[in-house]
Amino acid sequence: VNCLFLDALCQKNKAERPPVWLMRQAGRYMASYRKIRAQHSFLEMCKNPELITEVTLLPIRQFGFDAAIVFSDILLIAEAMGFGLAFEDGKGPVLRAPPRFPEDVAQLRGKNIKEELSFVLEGITLLKKELTVPLIGFAGAPFTVACYMIEGEMTGKKNRELKKTKEWMFSAPEKFHQLLEIISDYTVEYLNAQIEHGVEAIQLFDSWAHVLGNRQFEQFSKPYIKRILDRLNKCPRILFAKGASCCYESLAELNLEAISLDWQSSLLDVRKRLSPKICLQGNLDPDILLASRNVVEEEAHALLAKMRHDPAFIFNLGHGILPETPEENVQALVECVKNFS
Ligand code: CP3
Repeated sequence: VNCLFLDALCQKNKAERPPVWLMRQAGRYMASYRKIRAQHSFLEMCKNPELITEVTLLPIRQFGFDAAIVFSDILLIAEAMGFGLAFEDGKGPVLRAPPRFPEDVAQLRGKNIKEELSFVLEGITLLKKELTVPLIGFAGAPFTVACYMIEGEMTGKKNRELKKTKEWMFSAPEKFHQLLEIISDYTVEYLNAQIEHGVEAIQLFDSWAHVLGNRQFEQFSKPYIKRILDRLNKCPRILFAKGASCCYESLAELNLEAISLDWQSSLLDVRKRLSPKICLQGNLDPDILLASRNVVEEEAHALLAKMRHDPAFIFNLGHGILPETPEENVQALVECVKNFS
């Protein structure tokens, strides 16, 4: 069993090189993924424990990553809560609100989330029998999940500026807090079930945090991240909050092991600001993987050199890998990390 990832996350041993995995490592940039995807819709894949297992393993077997992440999506919890969910080509995720939303936010309570998402848990059980690297479970941070629920889709400029979400936030804050609290409570149940089924770490994705001002992040996102982290069973936790670098000091005080940096922040600056005990994950710009092999190697080296003597560092991207990424570049990147000394 490969311990590099958990050692870096929990500061157990100083290893000879940092561990590497990539956000969205099982996805459309892989020919083997596209082949399966040609036979099934994305949601079909997410709901089939055998396919979850097969797809999660694809990048582990092809590239030799040091950790696996359950093949799933942060928006499945919205569907489990009663929203209609579709992934449309060219549009991304589309959520359709249930009839009494937003008037009656409380109607969203009362679902059995473990039953609704049992396919994920079954996938985790199957994966545990196959894997020789740690398995990461995940969920969306409540603020990011709420954004998708309120916006419905993220296609237009207004959506991407979160106009509706902010209208709620500023005109009906009690209702917004109520929604965030409900999502948080389901997320605790869901992540604890993932932990019970054997994931060895969890990551929370706050992918839309960058649209919030500092004060709004402190009011509408952080308290719910905290609520979740405080209620999770024992398991190392990673937080990815895109564009929230101004809040890292206060986030590092939460009950977590690692912060996953977006590519705009500087690993060394953040390291200076935070305790050496906090593990840092990141943060290569995913666009670098679209460049030539030379550029990939040069940029990966620069990042590795910066973090050379840091035992609490996990190599990753600053956001999810892009579908256009050439597989050879991912291969080159992993080799670069593995051969670094
Ligand atoms: O990292 C992994 O390999 C695990 C799987 C994973 C997916 N989504 C698979 C996926 C994870 C961890 C996610 C998280 C997720 N989903 C986030 C947070 C991370 C981030 O990127 O900010 C968000 C915001 C979502 C919502 C979502 N799902 C979006 C915006 C999209 C992309 C839409 C598009 O078509 O580009 C998805 C779809 C999705 N999730 C795909 C995959 C592999 C592509 C689906 C396909 O095959 O068509």
